[in-house]
Amino acid sequence: MTVPDPALVVLIGASGSGKSTWAAAHYRPSEVVSSDVLRAVVGSGPADLDASVDAFAVLEQIVAARIGRGLTTVVDTLGTDVPRRIAWRDAARRAGLPTVAVVFHVDPAECRRRNRERDRPVPAPVLTAQLRRMRDVRVELAAEGWDLVVDAATPVEPGPGEATPVEPGPGKAARGKAAPAEPAPATVDRPLGVVLQISRFAWGDDPAGWLRSIADAATEAGFEGLALMDHLIQIPQVGRAWEPIPEPLVTLGLLAGVTSGLKLGTLVTPVTYRAPGIIAKSLATLDALSGGRAFCGIGAGWWAREHGGFGLAFPGARERLDQLERAIPVIRALWASGTKPAAGLPETTCYPRPVSDIPIIVGGSGARTLQIAKRFGDACNVASDLEIVDRAIKAMAGQRAVTVLDVPIVGRDREDVAARVEKLRGRTPAAGFARRHHAGTPDDQLGRYRLLAQRGIRTVFVALPGLAGPDDVLRFAPIVSGFAEAGPT
Ligand code: CTP
Ligand code: MG
Repeated sequence: MTVPDPALVVLIGASGSGKSTWAAAHYRPSEVVSSDVLRAVVGSGPADLDASVDAFAVLEQIVAARIGRGLTTVVDTLGTDVPRRIAWRDAARRAGLPTVAVVFHVDPAECRRRNRERDRPVPAPVLTAQLRRMRDVRVELAAEGWDLVVDAATPVEPGPGEATPVEPGPGKAARGKAAPAEPAPATVDRPLGVVLQISRFAWGDDPAGWLRSIADAATEAGFEGLALMDHLIQIPQVGRAWEPIPEPLVTLGLLAGVTSGLKLGTLVTPVTYRAPGIIAKSLATLDALSGGRAFCGIGAGWWAREHGGFGLAFPGARERLDQLERAIPVIRALWASGTKPAAGLPETTCYPRPVSDIPIIVGGSGARTLQIAKRFGDACNVASDLEIVDRAIKAMAGQRAVTVLDVPIVGRDREDVAARVEKLRGRTPAAGFARRHHAGTPDDQLGRYRLLAQRGIRTVFVALPGLAGPDDVLRFAPIVSGFAEAGPT
């Protein structure tokens, strides 16, 4: 079972029922707020009951602060104090966090045995009272309306609550329910090709060598291709303005020369930089030089600054979308065989011709962009959030493919994921940054990609935040190979 993450997770169980053990197995130490630990912080040790009032005052403050930041908070106390429990639940709801109660029902005899073996056992009558108290808990919890009540004996895994986003505000009972248990499979029935979008070029003083090492790693990891952003200044979402962001068609030419199997293209080139005929010419050349491996991601452009900085016009959105709509037929005309008047051109004399059918992928998820993709493109490319993907699939009505751009943060385990989020988030709050980047383990990512594959998505473009070198690319190999033997392409 997947427990939503981030979430408020309140543990409820008698002494020795295994709460702290469970918390340590599933969460990072800093996510667990434990009254025993805090007794040791403000008092003489975890059993310093005289320090309880102070320990709980600190605990309440920590819980409120973490919840307020949308961070996962595991409250490790007995959990049987109903007013406290409800106050935590309400605070989590106000912050838009799913609320999870984990109940520890352990055989009383076993609990007593564990208690006896401890350094400082709870007095037997106290434990008996706690165990008796636990009998009512299930009924109480059902009435309290938690988003999810979990029996601690059920195997669980905190995971992205992707399929059931939680909106902030007063909660409904159905909100934030755990996604149905869906173990990430080794293979899926539908293949999914993963293309690496390189958006960051940490190439030091060896640009060509670095690019080649990334391309080699992409091949080794099983990526289907390489895509390059087309920006004149590095965009703030990726890096700083003075970091290198090479002209993509020149760079793709180099990549064509050092790779043999990878597809190569732009994701996406804005129509505002180059006349459509020049885009057609460059991509046709790339296709010829690469033996038919080119693809053409194209869009309306969005960043005024880079246009100004390079002396380019940046008209309003409507005009740019008009340009996009006019550009695609011109590009196609110049790629078609024979030369004749077409798409407003007096002739279509463009040699070399492409050697393949270069797919045109229209980037963006606005209504008009999707219309243009459906009418003129081979595919539309949208962000990987499932609501956006579903909207695009509907808009394409089965007539055009939908591809997806995903910008995931992948860590080995929960600890590594959190460390990477903390390193990369800049000034963005961690919880929102983690959500936006689907931060998770390879298994989490496989689960998400499976949902995309099930929807009929065949291509995912992946940009890796913080991409520094080939190791970052290779770290993605288990995810790519999860879909590699999926069946006939
Ligand atoms: N334990 C066990 N098997 C489990 C869980 C716990 O044998 N499945 C043991 C632990 O190793 C520990 C004892 O039971 O020695 C109590 O577990 P703990 O997780 O500390 O229980 P808590 O519920 O946290 O107890 P307390 O309320 O006293 O903190
Ligand atoms: Mg404990």
